[in-house]
Amino acid sequence: MIPFRSACFLCVALLLGAQEVVPLNLPAPPAGSATLQTALRARATVRALAGPAPSLAEASQLLWAAQGENRPGRRVAPSAHAKHPLELYLVTSGSPDLAAGLYHYLPSGHRLTRVADGTPRTLLGAVKGMQAWIQEAPSVFVMAGDPSRIGEGSAALNLTYYEGGAAAQGLLLQAAALGLGAGTAAGVDLEAVARTLGLPKGTQVLTLLPVGRVRP
Ligand SMILES: Cc1cc2nc3c(=O)[nH]c(=O)nc-3n(C[C@H](O)[C@H](O)[C@H](O)COP(=O)(O)O)c2cc1C
Repeated sequence: MIPFRSACFLCVALLLGAQEVVPLNLPAPPAGSATLQTALRARATVRALAGPAPSLAEASQLLWAAQGENRPGRRVAPSAHAKHPLELYLVTSGSPDLAAGLYHYLPSGHRLTRVADGTPRTLLGAVKGMQAWIQEAPSVFVMAGDPSRIGEGSAALNLTYYEGGAAAQGLLLQAAALGLGAGTAAGVDLEAVARTLGLPKGTQVLTLLPVGRVRP
């Protein structure tokens, strides 16, 4: 008899394997919007989040701010030795132009690949002890990374977490600039999140970034 958690993992893994991977071209990030000063002043953890989930254009800007390329082969966030250990995922409950599901961001070409069905509630809600505001959020960006791309041991892990923090701040500032509510949360079973989402071996979840409309 397969334990329930293993069965879930198996299902997601099968889904990942079975679905044809067709990257979605994201709209180019606009050249200008709110000033950095405005975004810095507005950044705050918002846990009261309402739908609808970010549109394709909003998701595009948020993903780009965290891990997009701002010159050939180099990203908005700094990277130790430019090894780029980070992988950014999006779990969304869906908006009119971006269907619900689990997506993987491809910085090269600024594309998004849909890898599985699901929503924050169905995917993240399956993790024991998940915080309510995270599973109830319209969307959750999942900052993950593979430290082995940098090296071995705690030094590589520290650098990966450092880089994840820098990238997360970019996303949080972009959310503030767009007038969206957002936060970062690492006080959950991040290993269970990686298992539930069926992330590749060696890819660790660093933090979760719930995003939505600010609930009045
Ligand atoms: C590494 C890290 C982990 C965090 N984990 C959680 C968390 O698990 N749940 C939560 O509600 N907030 C979490 N937060 C958000 C903090 O509670 C929040 O940043 C702090 O209360 C300060 O509020 P502010 O972000 O509005 O300035 C985390 C923040 C950081 C930097």
